[in-house]
Amino acid sequence: MKIAVSGKGGVGKSTIAAALALTIANSGGKVMALDADPDANLASALGITTEDQKKIVPISKQIALIEERTGAKVDTYGKVFKLNPEVSDVAEKYSYRRGNIDLLVLGAIVAGGGGCACPESTFIRSLVTDLVMFKDETLIMDMEAGIEHLGRATSKGVDMMVVVVEPGKRSIDCAFTVQRMANEIGVKKLVAVANKVTSEEDAQFIKDNLPGIEVIATIPYSEVIRNADREGISVLDVLDDDLKVVFEKMFKQIEGRIE
Ligand SMILES: Nc1ncnc2c1ncn2[C@@H]1O[C@H](COP(=O)(O)OP(=O)(O)O)[C@@H](O)[C@H]1O
Ligand SMILES: [Mg+2]
Repeated sequence: MKIAVSGKGGVGKSTIAAALALTIANSGGKVMALDADPDANLASALGITTEDQKKIVPISKQIALIEERTGAKVDTYGKVFKLNPEVSDVAEKYSYRRGNIDLLVLGAIVAGGGGCACPESTFIRSLVTDLVMFKDETLIMDMEAGIEHLGRATSKGVDMMVVVVEPGKRSIDCAFTVQRMANEIGVKKLVAVANKVTSEEDAQFIKDNLPGIEVIATIPYSEVIRNADREGISVLDVLDDDLKVVFEKMFKQIEGRIE
């Protein structure tokens, strides 16, 4: 099962991605949590301590590895390098392991701007393709709204794109942008999760403004979730039983639509 989580910055992508990964892990499944957002904060949402977060080197900063595998110097623009670097061992070797969760942080690529054909982006694309297409492990991807790391080939392997929205026009507009991009590259299924919902009106606003996108779960606005971020603890560790059920139901809805 390969699930991508996308949406506007701040809507709760990392919170939802972490909740999904933790829900799977707590029920005994192994899961690869992939932080593919340049504005990376999945580690923190998973409750990994600030101390330990410092030990995580994003893949984009693994210069020696990238140079070795692509056969290029990272900062030399326009040089010939391998377009098909060996990556099959990278997830295993470079992820941060905690219980049933393996976290891999891709990091931001600075050189050349978005979509550049530099060694780093080629390497990262190959890695994402490997995880999506050739590895059996359950994969939860925390992505930016630009779904930058997914290409045509890789998108076929994504079972579900989950776009997170909050009760506001901007995150809704963003959901349609994600939907358009997902369609362009051939992602099979896209659903929405309504987050930070404070009332029936909020929930209705989201449903009314998302024609053509099914809202499979509604997560209430919760002080507990917000405070978990302040204190750097994982969402699932602080949830009361009611909220746990909400997240479990969300996962069931997603799972049910995949199988
Ligand atoms: N349901 C919720 N209730 C209250 N706060 C939330 C909720 N979901 C997310 N948040 C808070 O919103 C902020 C942004 O969430 P985050 O998951 O980091 O968003 P993103 O990854 O999309 O940028 C965090 O402080 C987080 O704790
Ligand atoms: Mg995030």
